Amino acid sequence: MAEKRKIILDVDTGSDDAVAICAALLSEELEVLGICSVGGNVELKNTTDNTLRVVELCKRPDVPVYRGAELPLVSTLEPWSNQAQVLPNKEGTHDQDNAVHTDHLPLPPTTLKAQDKSAAVWLIETLLSAGDGEITLVPVGPITNLALALRADPRIIPKIKEIVLMGGANNVYSPTQAAEFNVWCDPEALEIVLQSGVKITMVSLDATSHACLTWEQAKAIRDIGSPAALFCAELIEHRLRVSEAALAGGKMGVVGAALHDVLAVCAVLHPEVLRTEHVSCHVDVGHGYAYGSTLLNRNYKPIDMPKNCWFAYSADTELFFGWLYETLKRAAE
Ligand code: RIB
Ligand code: CA
Repeated sequence: MAEKRKIILDVDTGSDDAVAICAALLSEELEVLGICSVGGNVELKNTTDNTLRVVELCKRPDVPVYRGAELPLVSTLEPWSNQAQVLPNKEGTHDQDNAVHTDHLPLPPTTLKAQDKSAAVWLIETLLSAGDGEITLVPVGPITNLALALRADPRIIPKIKEIVLMGGANNVYSPTQAAEFNVWCDPEALEIVLQSGVKITMVSLDATSHACLTWEQAKAIRDIGSPAALFCAELIEHRLRVSEAALAGGKMGVVGAALHDVLAVCAVLHPEVLRTEHVSCHVDVGHGYAYGSTLLNRNYKPIDMPKNCWFAYSADTELFFGWLYETLKRAAE
């Protein structure tokens, strides 16, 4: 068997993060060195606890979890800012029935504990002790932990093989009219990462809008029957119900369970799942309506900016689902 790809996940576990963690831990092709948590979908204590619950479900207590940043670098400092009103997502503020992310995942409480070391410190130590280009980072929440590590010790830069992150938007935006959630939470953090010079694949909302599963696909996963498959099916079905309720309430769109973060894990092993273009990308860190938007320059003159990321504009839904299904099914055998 080929050598496993070494990765570090950085998550704000939420529902799609949870499916991404399952797929990564159960994949025969990935070695998950550790998982860093960050505040985002829900507050840090819950993203950390949810991550530990999924690690226990997957029977992988050997994979350490490190608690990261509760808050973004700067975006919540101004009391009147949108981010300051929304983050951290205080426990109990979520509509637990109709939100895609709930304070606690539908799993039993866990006995597992996060490590004492903070995520940024562990990231630095782990990367510095690795060989050049040995480790792939897969951030699928606000990218605060990596930005802190880069600012604290840039010597980690050559150690990173690639960053495959979920975030950014070109034509598909949420929650604002200009930005995607992970970037909107901490725009300055992504700009720091974009300026690092590390190879970056940006799995944007434009791409993940093609990673939406259907009821039939949810059933196929449920029929695998393992605890992890049943859990993933439950989360996918919940997102489908929320999606249908949103449409019934007049929201635009289609019925589907967008597994944003899972697509990023898939792209580590199968980059062909994405349609990407090498572009210049920078983040609007001005505090206006476009705060957190990812501005792409495909080198339309006159501004010819250095290309710094592979931006994913679309994804192959069938290839994505086939990979997720096979990963869960093989792990159940
Ligand atoms: O915009 C999608 C991203 O925001 C996903 O990572 C989801 O988990 C939420 O964090
Ligand atoms: Ca996430």
